[in-house]
Amino acid sequence: MADAPDTASMLGTVPFFSGLDGKKRKSLVSEGKEMAYKAGESIVREGAMGVGFYLILDGRAEVRKGGRLLATLEKGQFFGEMSLIDELPRSADVVAVSPTRCWALTSWAFAGLVKTNPDVALHMLKEMVKRVRAAQSSPTS
Ligand code: CMP
Repeated sequence: MADAPDTASMLGTVPFFSGLDGKKRKSLVSEGKEMAYKAGESIVREGAMGVGFYLILDGRAEVRKGGRLLATLEKGQFFGEMSLIDELPRSADVVAVSPTRCWALTSWAFAGLVKTNPDVALHMLKEMVKRVRAAQSSPTS
C-alpha cells in the first residue's frame, strides 16, 4: 500500500482533484482509505446500500447492471457517488477486472468533500452528465 504522500501526489494527477492545492489534497488523503481488489472481485454490489465513494488509483473496473456492461472505468475515474447522493441502493455492480487500487471515502467524508469544494462537485457533475449522455446514445439502453 502506498503511503499518504504518494497518494496525495497521485490524486494531484487526476482531473477530479486538479482544482485543489497540494495542502488540501494532503488533508483529503488522510480522510480516505486505500483499498486493493483482485481481478474478478466485486467492489460495489447492485442493490446494496452505499457506504463509500471510490476513486480508481490503478487498475480497471467494470460497471454492470443485470449482467449488462454499462462502462469500464480506469485510473482517475470515480464510482459510488449515486447512492451517496440519493441514499438509495447501489444502481449497478462494480467489479475489478484487473488488480485495482481505489481511494475510498465514507459517505460523510464524501458529503464534506462536495460541500466544501465546488470545483470537485462541478467536475463530478460534468462526469455524471457525460455518463447520462453516453447511456442515452447507447443502442441497448
Ligand atoms: P452507485 O449507484 O452508488 O453504485 C454503482 C455505481 O456505478 C454508481 O453509483 C455509479 O458510480 C456507477 N455507474 C452507474 N451507472 C453508470 C454508467 N452508466 N456509467 C458509468 N458509471 C455508472
